[in-house]
Amino acid sequence: MALEFPIQPPSSYAGESEPVKRPKEFACFSYDKDHKFRLDDSSLKWYYPPVVGANLSNGYDTFIKHDESKDEHLDSLLKTIASHEQQTGGPIDAHIVTWRGMLTKIMATPYDDEGFEMNATLYRDCIFIEENHAFKEQKRQIEIARDQKRQQENNRRGHWNPPSVMQFWGYKFETLSTIPRPWGETTREYIESRDDEVVSNKEQYCSVVRTGFGKSVVCLGGEVDAIWDAKPETPGQPINWVELKTSAEIRSHNDQFKFDRKLMRYWIQSFLLGVPKIIVGFRTQGGILSQVEEFKTLSMPEDVKRRNTAKWDGNVCIKFTSLFLEWLRQSISDGGVWRIKRESKSAHIELFKVEEVGHGSIITDEFMNWRIKL
Ligand code: A3P
Ligand code: MG
Ligand code: MG
Repeated sequence: MALEFPIQPPSSYAGESEPVKRPKEFACFSYDKDHKFRLDDSSLKWYYPPVVGANLSNGYDTFIKHDESKDEHLDSLLKTIASHEQQTGGPIDAHIVTWRGMLTKIMATPYDDEGFEMNATLYRDCIFIEENHAFKEQKRQIEIARDQKRQQENNRRGHWNPPSVMQFWGYKFETLSTIPRPWGETTREYIESRDDEVVSNKEQYCSVVRTGFGKSVVCLGGEVDAIWDAKPETPGQPINWVELKTSAEIRSHNDQFKFDRKLMRYWIQSFLLGVPKIIVGFRTQGGILSQVEEFKTLSMPEDVKRRNTAKWDGNVCIKFTSLFLEWLRQSISDGGVWRIKRESKSAHIELFKVEEVGHGSIITDEFMNWRIKL
């Protein structure tokens, strides 16, 4: 039998806001050029403004794209947590461990119709949550088929950018806006030749933070695109992270509405890891970078409210998430693997068991062997 958590209209989560902790990075890891795990910050990139007028389609033919069909579970996050625990000699104090992307979905739920599926398991007083990869893969295949069909239809009419090209624009913008060392250590030649760099999405820097919603302590891992200056000397101090995004130019009230709605996702994503600045590269229909604008994560909800366009309230997202996580912690009280599922447009999130015992593939043997020693 499934348990159900109701999704009420946003107004019912308004009012007094929940206490939230500022996310603090306590560990990090990188994926190198071959997407190999490294327990360091070697893939960290620095922000350096791109040249307006660049063609974001440049280099599409040589794009090195990571294969998303493989399920990576929580493996890299668990490796990083285990290493941190080896240093401190004790387990982290989180009630929930997951990727940032999972909490992004939960936080957006009061305003979003999107369906999702996750797997969760309780292990030593902590709930570990991963995406249900089969569901994600199924959605991806449906999108590929739909895009192929649209491409065939549009080939006859022209003026249509395939999603694969539009996705490339996002990674190209990252390549055009970052350097692998602080600017003082990077040569002008390198900075000026960024347009010739081969674009790849295999390399990543991931921050692992401790944060909180209401009474729940949460450990999240997520990719950070770049840093503005340098990490502070003292651990736990705010870090000047930069999130990079591309978006279509705003030319009408309707465009502004759509953009302000998109800002909710940008805001949630950045809020969760404590990223203070979002840099948006606006582009033409044809993928030419036409303007670069900086947004402050902290003031974003108020800024959108003032424009009176898309209606979303950051406090509602936070309150909903606090209540949901509390419910989840009360509901997942024994072993096995649980499914957290929201059907598209549904007014509730379901929770039911899919495996009676064990932890599925959510927790690695390596992590369990380490924890046994603690
Ligand atoms: P844009 O966001 O500029 O379009 P992120 O913004 O999270 O750092 O992701 C970088 C890029 O990955 C995105 O650039 C987009 O190209 C691609 N991307 C991220 N999430 C995606 C998704 N759900 N579907 C398709 N592409 C995605
Ligand atoms: Mg990114
Ligand atoms: Mg980005």
